[in-house]
Amino acid sequence: MSKGPGVEKMFDAIADRYDLMNRVMTFGQDRHWREFVVGRGGKIGHGWVLDLACGTGEIAAQFQRSNPEARVVGADFSRNMLARASADLSAADIRFQACDANQLPYRDGVFQAVSFGYLLRNVDDSLNVLREVFRVLSTGGRVICLDTTPPARNLLYPFIRIYLAVVIPLLGRLIARDQSAYAYLTGSTMDFHDAETLAGLFREAGFSEVSFKKFMFGTIAVHWGRK
Ligand SMILES: C[S@@+](CC[C@H](N)C(=O)[O-])C[C@H]1O[C@@H](n2cnc3c(N)ncnc32)[C@H](O)[C@@H]1O
Repeated sequence: MSKGPGVEKMFDAIADRYDLMNRVMTFGQDRHWREFVVGRGGKIGHGWVLDLACGTGEIAAQFQRSNPEARVVGADFSRNMLARASADLSAADIRFQACDANQLPYRDGVFQAVSFGYLLRNVDDSLNVLREVFRVLSTGGRVICLDTTPPARNLLYPFIRIYLAVVIPLLGRLIARDQSAYAYLTGSTMDFHDAETLAGLFREAGFSEVSFKKFMFGTIAVHWGRK
């Protein structure tokens, strides 16, 4: 069975508490990762940027602040996330659209940069999504991906495991009032491709200059590449 409908329902349910929960569970670090993502997008000028799986629109908004002349699109399949984004960012010049990352409703080669935060863990076939992103990027365009990544088995591993398996679901219950959504975050992180494997999928999708950087004790990775 496809993950899509369950994921969409889950994000619809937590949309109102999503940003607060992010701030708390990342100790406020999530903002810096988003700034890093936008920095990797380079100078956009008057070009088009797509922030896919935009959620409440924080990466899209950061792109707009850093590139005031750029035309920024935020796309997501959760209507409640999009409603939140449109309400919170009504003053920003961002076009929000409903779409499924597996089948992008855009012509080939239109975007100069495409970003996505915490998307790939939630789809059935990361490679298919990466190929779609490759298709809609212009030649030389940049892809930037922010996601959780399975932690390495080092000295910190037992502490990280407790944080992921116990603390995050508990915070999810207290703050987002949805323990299962945040237990899913932990499960999908542990099951996700490690950062090296994910970099390999970017190359397989056609990207060059692929690299990544880890944050937060190796539990977050930003990958990037070029078409
Ligand atoms: C964890 S949130 C991330 C939101 C935002 N990118 C951020 O950095 O905070 C994941 C988002 O991906 C969206 N999403 C998951 N699968 C998707 C798909 N197949 N197509 C479009 N959006 C999807 C969800 O609706 C949700 O808003």
